[in-house]
Amino acid sequence: MAELRRAARLQYKRAVLWTHARRGDLVCRLMLHEHLDDPYPLYEHIRAHGPVYRSRAGVQAVTAHELCSQVLRGSAFARRNEEPAAGPGARTAPAASQTSAPGDVDGSGTGTGEGTAPAEGGGAAGDEPGDTSFLEAEVADHMRWRRLVAPAFRPRKIAEYRKRTEEVAHRLIDTALARGGTFDVVTDFASPLPITVISELLGITDVDVDRFAYYGLVTGRAIDGIRSARQAAEFRAAARELNAMFTNLVGKRRGEPGEDLVSELLRSQDGDQLPEQEIIGTCQLLLTAGFETTTNLVSNAVLRLLSDRSQWEALVGDPGLAPAVAEESLRFDPPVQYSIRVAREALTLGDRPVPVGTVLMLVLGAANRDPVIFPDPHRFDISRSGAGQHLAFLSGAHYCVGAPLARMETDVALSVLAERAPELHRAGPLRRRPTAALRGLLSLPVSARR
Ligand code: HEM
Repeated sequence: MAELRRAARLQYKRAVLWTHARRGDLVCRLMLHEHLDDPYPLYEHIRAHGPVYRSRAGVQAVTAHELCSQVLRGSAFARRNEEPAAGPGARTAPAASQTSAPGDVDGSGTGTGEGTAPAEGGGAAGDEPGDTSFLEAEVADHMRWRRLVAPAFRPRKIAEYRKRTEEVAHRLIDTALARGGTFDVVTDFASPLPITVISELLGITDVDVDRFAYYGLVTGRAIDGIRSARQAAEFRAAARELNAMFTNLVGKRRGEPGEDLVSELLRSQDGDQLPEQEIIGTCQLLLTAGFETTTNLVSNAVLRLLSDRSQWEALVGDPGLAPAVAEESLRFDPPVQYSIRVAREALTLGDRPVPVGTVLMLVLGAANRDPVIFPDPHRFDISRSGAGQHLAFLSGAHYCVGAPLARMETDVALSVLAERAPELHRAGPLRRRPTAALRGLLSLPVSARR
């Protein structure tokens, strides 16, 4: 009975989203994936309404780089709703986290706003086991968690991982070339590379690359909101499998510590006081955040380079340009397209009053093409100066903790590809990931032979 009610609620909410979209609501159109191929013209329509666009989806979409930065760097906005301190209005305001979205028509995230059923708290992960990662934590806990995890991403560690990343990248290219040079950039290279690296970093020994890629797909899709009973079931099953895998791993590492991140978390100063479920939640977060986004960055960058041969050839001529390519790709086509924040105090944003509980959709993909910051913003230009001002990793307290790892992996991936497959070109139609929040490819067939 509960399942039936849930399915009916999902259908109802999807219908509401659809109705608003048909009446011209631009955020609802985005959430219904009407612009997966190229959302950037839609962002320009949103920007044309002013730096803050009020959507019937119950969010205000922010496209200006300056305002997004202001929100992220200040303390007036939270990742999720904080009640009751946040005051009136806060109770009905949707929870917001990396796992909830304006299109979260599951009712477990942000809901669909005015005229629709209220949100019920929790992220898309909601009541799933292992959902106690620091993404959901209060500020004090969040800072403690960052302190615990940060050592794994320090420059010395990244330099250590680099060697292994190069080995894996070369092995993947060896395999692709041995098969005749026709391969899929996503499934044969950009996906297995970061999956292998983050798994080894966490101390997972029996990596099933295809299964992990599936977890990435399922959790990535949930960021846009759960849309159907089937999707909810898939998500729950994936969360259960991940939870079981990490419960097992944490148990093993307690008895038999190694040099991996799980052992380090267990050894850490606060180790004894860390609830097991929090360690497990953090591992799940690091695994899924740690490859899906990097896969998308590498694939987006390769697609862009192959669409503009002169820039691909510039990289082939000088693989040392790979970090610049990564930075311009992060700006031009970021893997994370938006992030949700909730106002915990009343303030003014631009010239707009923002009451407590207001939900903001920070459209990173639009901020990264703000003409005020980036001249000729719709041009992909690997020689651009100032590309690094993008917000692809956010800024402020939640700045991506894995950014140094992602940059190193992308640098290695692009330079190895350019060195080993200089004649690389497209060899078939691409397929996109079906999400608005995460931007990337499911498939990009290429050939390394002339
Ligand atoms: C190109 C690759 C990546 C991109 C574009 C990216 C982007 C982001 C963004 C936008 C956020 C903020 C989410 C929000 O608050 O709404 C974030 C947070 C985070 N990312 Fe990444 N990420 C990438 C790679 C990685 C990697 C490789 C790891 C770990 C191995 C990682 C771990 C995390 C974690 C743990 C957080 C939460 C940080 C916090 O809340 O303090 N990310 N990332």
